[in-house]
Amino acid sequence: MKKILVLNGPNLNLLGTREPAQYGTTTLPDVEAMCRAECERRGYELECFQSNWEGALIDKIQEYGRLWKAGSALGCVFNPGAFTHTSVALHDAIKGVDGLPVIECHISNVHAREAFRHHSYISPAAAGIIVGFGVQGYLIALDGLVRTRENGSAA
Ligand code: DQA
Repeated sequence: MKKILVLNGPNLNLLGTREPAQYGTTTLPDVEAMCRAECERRGYELECFQSNWEGALIDKIQEYGRLWKAGSALGCVFNPGAFTHTSVALHDAIKGVDGLPVIECHISNVHAREAFRHHSYISPAAAGIIVGFGVQGYLIALDGLVRTRENGSAA
């Protein structure tokens, strides 16, 4: 059974209580449970990982790059949080693993918010982008990943 990674960056462990008007009241464990049910339904094994540390996220992307090359991972749904707007290192990590499809996902519509959220270092390296659908965006991103990459197909 192939693995899918749902990866969350800084402050997303606070989902549910963090700025609920912006991010809603669903907690990260709730989001992960939704994603797990969806992956199980579709025949994939889900791993969820959250870190407030850039290096830990990079290590995880590299690990999944190796799994993808070995044929045992389908891809990754990634909400990089504020690192979206700052991290050349995460951009390079995704480029560096060369192949692993990474779907960038944001709960809020970053383009309707402050100007500093309009630029993403991740988008040029991402296979696709889901923005502004609340926590349902994680499921939309999983759906897009599976629809375009299942059975070796690429969009
Ligand atoms: C976010 C948007 C980012 O700008 C912010 O720093 C986050 C969450 C989102 O999911 O909407 O931490 O990635």
